[in-house]
Amino acid sequence: MRAVAVIPKQRGSVHLVEMNEPKTSDVPGGRGVKVKTLRVGGCGTDREINNAEYGIAPEGFDYLVLGHENLGQVVETGENAKEFAVGDYVVATVRRPGKSIYDQIGEQDMTTDNEYFERGISRLHGYFAEFYVESADFMVKLPPSLKEVGVLLEPLSIVEKGLQQAFELQERLKIWQPKRAAVIGTGSVGLLTVMAMRMRGLEVHGFGKDKKEGYLNAQLCEEIGASYDSTMEISVADAAKKYGAFDIVFECTGYSPIVWDAALGAAKNGVLILSSVTGGERRAEIQSDKINIEFVLGNKLMFGTVNAGREHFAAGVKDLALCEAMHPDWLDKMLTHPVNGIENFAQMFQNLNGGVPGMIKTFCEISP
Ligand code: BGC
Repeated sequence: MRAVAVIPKQRGSVHLVEMNEPKTSDVPGGRGVKVKTLRVGGCGTDREINNAEYGIAPEGFDYLVLGHENLGQVVETGENAKEFAVGDYVVATVRRPGKSIYDQIGEQDMTTDNEYFERGISRLHGYFAEFYVESADFMVKLPPSLKEVGVLLEPLSIVEKGLQQAFELQERLKIWQPKRAAVIGTGSVGLLTVMAMRMRGLEVHGFGKDKKEGYLNAQLCEEIGASYDSTMEISVADAAKKYGAFDIVFECTGYSPIVWDAALGAAKNGVLILSSVTGGERRAEIQSDKINIEFVLGNKLMFGTVNAGREHFAAGVKDLALCEAMHPDWLDKMLTHPVNGIENFAQMFQNLNGGVPGMIKTFCEISP
């Protein structure tokens, strides 16, 4: 079968490889599920890996098969994986257990290991292949009605984890009923965050760099009942004065200096969630006294979140279904740049490398 791989640390090395089809017996205990890959999404992480800034090949290989945003259809199940049936639509999680105590109890998204295992990213081959095999333990089922948008589930799982953690952490307040939220960054993860918080009934304000006029991402914010402002026109701190301070600020721009402006938007007892993976070496001058005193006197909370567990994927399935019911076509509009056929993988990386107007999400359709 064909797969799309990079040679880690070699810039622009993305290429097709030929591999043997995996077998359900590759997974011990009869738990293997063989999946025909339908779609693989591309994101900033894939771009960074192909730009040699990130990514590690599995032991014994000099290449890494890419692809962590995935959607597929079951073609075969192991004898002890009967919770899945041939024809089911499925999405697999990304991280696999390592050594830390969190990994041992199935909470590998909270690993303390420095060496972590992520399909398509770190030490494990990904899903950018015609087939993959995975343990039933690491897969969730989607209703057929979500097959057009299911490739958005993996990025949404990151958001679901961040929100769930925020609610768990805020139990320190005994009573916390967030009403107003800000989402900093309205790329694909930002829009999914806007959506997930709108599905929870919050008043949501989206912030991006681009001007609102003619900007599809801004239009999508408004279509789902959120506002949109350009941070070139209003800072998050000033927006907090205009709209009222934000009980939740969710940062997902990929641009770290904005974190400190976002911090100034958080309400008393509020929470700032950081989810951008910023591999660079940027520095910023910040209002440190002001941010510090406001966090101290306002009992505010800031935390980081990465990756997601199976329960966060399962929560995402529900939000996708609710969104489809309440706002049909909204999720479809995010899927702006399809690429047809695995052999046209290079187009997806061109899209990811920027300069493509109106792009929100690019993905490769491997099988219709
Ligand atoms: C993926 C996560 C992963 C993170 C860091 C993100 O793009 O969605 O699953 O943990 O990169 O490698």
